[in-house]
Amino acid sequence: MSGPDLRRAAAARAVDLVADGMRLGIGTGTTANAFVLLLGERVRAGLDVIGVPTSEATRAACEAEGIPLTSLEECPELDLTIDGADELDDQLRLIKGGGGALLREKIVAHASRRMVVIADAAKHVAKLGAFPLPIEVNLFGFGATFKAVQKAIEAAGCAGELTLRKASGGQPFVTDGGHAIVDARLGAIADPERLSAMLWAVPGVVEHGLFLGLASGAILAEARGDEAVVTVLGTA
Ligand code: A5P
Repeated sequence: MSGPDLRRAAAARAVDLVADGMRLGIGTGTTANAFVLLLGERVRAGLDVIGVPTSEATRAACEAEGIPLTSLEECPELDLTIDGADELDDQLRLIKGGGGALLREKIVAHASRRMVVIADAAKHVAKLGAFPLPIEVNLFGFGATFKAVQKAIEAAGCAGELTLRKASGGQPFVTDGGHAIVDARLGAIADPERLSAMLWAVPGVVEHGLFLGLASGAILAEARGDEAVVTVLGTA
């Protein structure tokens, strides 16, 4: 049972949540991409939906599958968002942004009546923070913002190394919105709500990867022998 099999199993359960006429938020990453492929099959078989992609990569994947797309300008309220996550806890608090799409992902999730996460069950953790927390930062004033983020993290009772994310060529990674990402290796986040508030208070922080109170359910896939077993956390 490989990672792609588990991603596909979670995505297959999620695609069953999609009904005719729905306005969908469509996530980013390898698990969300598995969902896009299955959604494409349903659309080609006659399912009538419209989607808002959370990244340019997802836009391209949806276009390749023939999934009709819209924007939050034309369609400001969505019925359901399906997206992956880098970590989630029992309270359905998430870390997202490993793929750098956190800003659009959060805007889309917030515009949705329901957000359901699809993930490998290994991402379900007791405490968030082993995965580095992505923090999206405006390029103007980067040095000052970086220092202010360090102080905010300390004030929230956390500690850890902060690094500017680099692209594969070694140059700074740039998000779809034209911003940089700082990854904070915190180990464990004692109080995610407090850290979220402290980060939002820093001018120059565009968004961070803590998704709190947004997901209503999670579909988690794990290998048991030769089978992918799917469990649901919350409502999905
Ligand atoms: C994209 O920015 C992220 O939030 C992804 O949703 C997250 O990193 C999960 O990606 P995978 O499904 O590829 O693990």
